[in-house]
Amino acid sequence: MAENLMDKIVALCKRRGFIYPGSEIYGGIGGFWDYGPLGTELKRNIKNEWWKSMVYLRDDVVGLDAAIVMNREVWKVSGHVEAFVDPLIECKVCHVRVRADNKEDIAAHLKTHKDIQVDWTKPQKFNLLVRAYLGIIEGKQSETFLRGEITQGAFVNFQNIINSSRVKIPFGIAQIGKAFRNEITPGSFTYRSREFEQMELEFFVRPKDSEADKWFEYWKKQRMGWYIDLGMKKNHLRFRKHESYEKAHYAKYAEDLEYNAPFGWSEFEGIHHRGDWDLGRHKLMYKDEDLKEEFTPWVIETSGGVDRSALFFLLDAYYEDKKRVVLKLHPKLAPLKVAVFPLLANKLPLVKMAKGIYDNLKAQNIGMIGFDDRGNIGKRYYSQDEIGTPFCITVDFQSMEDRTVTVRDRDTAKQERVDMDSLSSYFTKHFNE
Ligand code: GAP
Repeated sequence: MAENLMDKIVALCKRRGFIYPGSEIYGGIGGFWDYGPLGTELKRNIKNEWWKSMVYLRDDVVGLDAAIVMNREVWKVSGHVEAFVDPLIECKVCHVRVRADNKEDIAAHLKTHKDIQVDWTKPQKFNLLVRAYLGIIEGKQSETFLRGEITQGAFVNFQNIINSSRVKIPFGIAQIGKAFRNEITPGSFTYRSREFEQMELEFFVRPKDSEADKWFEYWKKQRMGWYIDLGMKKNHLRFRKHESYEKAHYAKYAEDLEYNAPFGWSEFEGIHHRGDWDLGRHKLMYKDEDLKEEFTPWVIETSGGVDRSALFFLLDAYYEDKKRVVLKLHPKLAPLKVAVFPLLANKLPLVKMAKGIYDNLKAQNIGMIGFDDRGNIGKRYYSQDEIGTPFCITVDFQSMEDRTVTVRDRDTAKQERVDMDSLSSYFTKHFNE
């Protein structure tokens, strides 16, 4: 059933325009995905909600949008050139490579060997940074990397931000942007991609265990709460402490926020205590002008994946019964907020009134609004249910008489009549509940 759910989501994503395989007409490319019209909206909504909660609603966090390509020195100093590695084993018989710590991939490969026994090489370190070359003269190009985490931009701009804004410790720098990793075995749909988006907070605190512990717990609670507030089921989420062998090179300690996915409990956000690893390596300090002291702050990081969040929001929202498939996405995340239908496509006054409502709602800044006059009403409802549209409005003959329309709720399929002049306040109220 669980595997089946994954297949259903992958098929729905392609069919309805959420996610397509990258470069599909040329046979695809492993680990790259393109977001279609609805997927783009879903991702944008996730990012907007994240930004709202992490920046707009806070006094202690500022935003940043750093470049993807940085001076290669950054990656040497940050330790990524040396330590951003996965252990890799290769089957000596057919030269397939898998991560030495990926039990499923190892088991899957074993199954492909019917007659000849698998013979693995010893684990070898494989750097995940994607190389890039700058300059136009062949042979004289300088090598750098596409960023493997968006994080380093916050550290290299630490002093710029202090100089140009009024932040004081404790404070944070928030970023959303693309990162690239040469993943050995991309897979599980978008879960392990080679290009993906991260949404991260680097939160700078005084270098004291009590401060770090306090903020670590604070951010764990905030981040779990954010997913639950946006509709993810609490019993599908858990935190898992990193064992010492799996800690990243920069982490003092770390916990993963995991989702109970069809392919097992899977990390999609990390809360990391990075200590003074990064600022220390970049030789950056903080001057407290009031207390006249200088120190290297510690960093508590929250690092989430936009693509993994999108996938898990979709999986979590999927519902089907004998009649219909519904994506019960939170209205704040749903790609379309409302769809408007005229009862009949060939009755001009109905179409005109429905178009008027559609145009009016578009101007209300609620989000994407849909319009559909194809097929029968039932089919239109099911089509909107399948992409998670929380409300559908139908303009019928009664609308012509009393200026009311039916508003149908996606989850209950119940309808109520609403005065068309109060639609925008009706939706504002429902979307902010
Ligand atoms: N700055 C810390 C950092 O990058 P990470 O645990 O390596 O930490 C953070 O990555 C998040 O980025 C993950 O929890 C995941 O959501 C996302 N992520 C990492 N690798 C990914 C991949 N190959 N495909 C999709 N998302 C990925």
